[in-house]
Amino acid sequence: MSRILGIESSCDETAVSIVQNGDTIMSNVIASQIDLHAPHGGIVPELASRQHVINIGPTVLKALADADIKLHDLDAISVTNGPGLAGSLMVGVNFAKALAASTNIPLIGINHLEGHIYAAWLDKIDPAKDIGFPLVCLIASGGHTDLLLMEDHGEYKLLGKTRDDAAGEAFDKAARVLGLGFPGGPAIQKVAPSTPSQETFPQPHFKNGNPLDFSFSGLKTSILNRAKTLGIYPPGSTPPSESVIAELAGGFQEAIVASLVSRVSQAVQIFNAKGVILGGGVAANSLLRERTKASIDMPVVVPPPILCTDNGAMIAACAHHKIEHSTTFPQHLSIDIYPTSRLGL
Ligand code: KG4
Ligand code: ZN
Repeated sequence: MSRILGIESSCDETAVSIVQNGDTIMSNVIASQIDLHAPHGGIVPELASRQHVINIGPTVLKALADADIKLHDLDAISVTNGPGLAGSLMVGVNFAKALAASTNIPLIGINHLEGHIYAAWLDKIDPAKDIGFPLVCLIASGGHTDLLLMEDHGEYKLLGKTRDDAAGEAFDKAARVLGLGFPGGPAIQKVAPSTPSQETFPQPHFKNGNPLDFSFSGLKTSILNRAKTLGIYPPGSTPPSESVIAELAGGFQEAIVASLVSRVSQAVQIFNAKGVILGGGVAANSLLRERTKASIDMPVVVPPPILCTDNGAMIAACAHHKIEHSTTFPQHLSIDIYPTSRLGL
């Protein structure tokens, strides 16, 4: 039996979880900073790291209390050490090091993007055993939009990536234009109509380069121009009609989802994948979840929304499999932070 503590502080959530055997969540505590950053319309890195300093201790203690275990019951401590905001990563990594040094519990650094993939193992399914490799993985978050081929535990090939904004970043920017607040993804999903929108936005067409890449900056410009034409942006003294905002939000969401699903679908065919894993905050989007399942004739694993957005459980789940599939214990007290690290290159 393994019990692993997972610490995640790469962006704006201080999240700590304890996971047993890589698939059973004993506790999952998330100290969100949304209220702190919302007035600024996005994450302010300096504020984020300062808030992590305040939150990290109590969050670790609550995760232990919720799981009803003591520190010495842990088999390993895992922590996100990249990619992410440098100041934010440093808080989690240094706390984890101090904890490991003072208890003699082994420490392992985990790549945040790989963590998002391993959230799939917390969904009462073992994709490796129940579906099999290769798996196409889409990680769509506030900082990344990566399409990967997972050929085995820990073995990835980057198939496509965004050439400009990440999908979540595009949602956040569009929501700002529409006056819907932060974070933008859930706000846009909330107001988008369930029927197809009258507002349509174009898909990017690449003349050259990798057709499995993504691009969302043109979409962002399109919605900004449309909002200006409709007199919604910049905001004036009269609030815009809710139905106009809803139509724009619906059309924008539709365009992002169509772009994501088409690349996933192509990748499954090209690489003869046995299934698909969706992860990252944007995978919490219900239209994306439905469309992917409806468009792909293969098993699609999408963790519940709370495990798609940043959490410590995915880090602990990933650590379990890293330890299980490595011949040597991967890392310990000398770990560094890697703010720009990637997966599958
Ligand atoms: O993975 P995540 O929690 O943090 C990063 O690693 O970046 O992703 C956050 C992103 C934000 O841009 C947020 O707007 C987006 O995920 N997001 C969503 C939804 N929930 C969160 N986007 C679309 N629909 C959602 N329901
Ligand atoms: Zn994330």
